[in-house]
Amino acid sequence: MANFKFDIQSIFTEPIVRVSSNLLPHTFRGDRRRALDISSKMSQIIDHMGELSAVAQKLSKPVTSSQKLRMVENQTVYVMADINGCDGDVVIGLLKVGAKNLYLFDNVGDTRKVDQAPCILDFYIHETRQRTGLGKRIFDFMLAEENWIPVKCTVDRPSEKLLKFLKKYYGLETIIPQTNKFVLYEGFFEKDGTKDKCMEIDRAGA
Ligand code: COA
Repeated sequence: MANFKFDIQSIFTEPIVRVSSNLLPHTFRGDRRRALDISSKMSQIIDHMGELSAVAQKLSKPVTSSQKLRMVENQTVYVMADINGCDGDVVIGLLKVGAKNLYLFDNVGDTRKVDQAPCILDFYIHETRQRTGLGKRIFDFMLAEENWIPVKCTVDRPSEKLLKFLKKYYGLETIIPQTNKFVLYEGFFEKDGTKDKCMEIDRAGA
């Protein structure tokens, strides 16, 4: 888990906070001076956790940083902490999600343009706390907040651990092959058990 030199209790008034481009937790209440202080601390937390995630996934550079988050409107980072736990006050993980316009292959290999597809962009639980159910906790929190269902999510370069995680908890197993870095599962293009004909998904070029 990650320790910080400053007090994180004032940031994590709840175990999981949602953070977007203003770098303030969704629970934030306060004036401008306090907002500057909290966003500066959150920036350090996100940068550090993003670096740990990159190391864990053997990436050359972090997918998640405060600078990137500040610059985009439709991405959200969920950050989880353990306050007053056996290790004191520590940050234990993050999950970054966003919506992207993607060209994807459907089950029969036709190309479809999907506007604002839900994407899992980065996911990390500290090594000392993995496989204790915390990943599931933050993921379920995110699903409820975003109003997403797992089968409708695309996943950016999932690790083996994440593939196993998605299979274990959400039954996601059969992948629809793509040529880009995104993974999506059987059921992505279906709606209420029938082929999806909803507005936001159009056959490319149709
Ligand atoms: N080997 C295989 N499966 C693993 C695993 C490992 N080392 N770690 C987690 N999993 C999968 C398994 O399905 C596991 O169930 P099991 O213990 O019964 O086999 C399940 O996840 C555990 O669920 P949970 O405890 O809720 O997840 P977590 O807190 O370990 O978080 C990750 C899951 C993927 C976020 C975490 O393992 C992690 O941070 N990994 C390193 C970074 C990474 O790969 N991120 C994905 C980015 S694409």
